[in-house]
Amino acid sequence: MKYFNTAGPVNCKDHYCLPPLSRFNLSEILGLISQKKYFVLHAPRQSGKTSCLLALENYLNASGSYKSLYINVEAAQVARNNVEKGIFAIINEIQRRIELSGYDDDSQRIVKDLCDPTLSLSALNSALTRLAEFSPLPLVLLIDEIDALVGDTLISVLRQIRSGYDTRPDHFPSTVILCGVRDVRDYRIHSDTEQMIITGGSAFNVKAESLRLGNFSEEEVRTLCLEHTKETGQVFTAEALNAIWNLTSGQPWLVNALAYETCFKLEHGKNLDLPITDSMVEQAEDNLIIRRETHLDQLADKLKEERVRRV
Ligand SMILES: Nc1ncnc2c1ncn2[C@@H]1O[C@H](COP(=O)(O)OP(=O)(O)OP(=O)(O)O)[C@@H](O)[C@H]1O
Ligand SMILES: [Mg+2]
Repeated sequence: MKYFNTAGPVNCKDHYCLPPLSRFNLSEILGLISQKKYFVLHAPRQSGKTSCLLALENYLNASGSYKSLYINVEAAQVARNNVEKGIFAIINEIQRRIELSGYDDDSQRIVKDLCDPTLSLSALNSALTRLAEFSPLPLVLLIDEIDALVGDTLISVLRQIRSGYDTRPDHFPSTVILCGVRDVRDYRIHSDTEQMIITGGSAFNVKAESLRLGNFSEEEVRTLCLEHTKETGQVFTAEALNAIWNLTSGQPWLVNALAYETCFKLEHGKNLDLPITDSMVEQAEDNLIIRRETHLDQLADKLKEERVRRV
């Protein structure tokens, strides 16, 4: 039975979901990819970035026109300014994802020696070169959690990507999408080795476009809730749907958390013969607040930041 997902990216087989690819302007993204652009996709925490990237990876691989690989560079966060450690963590992630995504044996073989220890400062560049050269189709690399990288590691990743740009698509990924919370162009990165501030824009000036993922619209909130009605027959009153919209403003994680609490945790909510009412939604809201769910604190912390307050 499907449910409202509140942990990690959505999987439309198991979770109620809005088709992730309908959440951004797919034709614009495909246009940028066909122009072999490198670009940034940024959106707030818990807004569906990873869900969208994974869906895009599947879509591109199924298209027969591209080979796409999703990687998450969060593991390199602990390396901080240790460039060598950070780059190796990223190459490990590339190898792991290739194995997971069922590439054939030949590809598995080439990734085994993706990492040449003599090349530490250009190891990522050479790994991506080998991957692109091996791929019979243009390679689209989706890099998630780019914000997790800091300092010299981030600078090195951006530079190694930039230095391969002019050899794409035969010898380097045709498209690289960087995904994170902020626009890499706004970054001011402190380099320990160079003892200066480097801006993200100068280290990665081949980005074409920034695309933003917003909150769900009122219509989308309704559509998501009605997935539950379709699955179980349990109805929402109009007031309940309004309450979910009013209490969440469509923030994707919050919508799911509130709907999950209402339909799957409240005793009345679990009784599929009873309609979901606005008072149940309000009770569920109280429960979430009392439990101080993780992401609530994160979202509240964001509100305290000066630049967010101004908005
Ligand atoms: N297409 C969707 N349909 C329904 N719910 C969604 C969808 N996309 C995201 N969500 C909700 O948002 C939550 C976060 O999704 P996801 O992990 O993809 O976001 P994220 O922006 O990558 O988060 P983070 O900033 O933590 O990396 C999910 O747990 C789910 O509750
Ligand atoms: Mg994510």
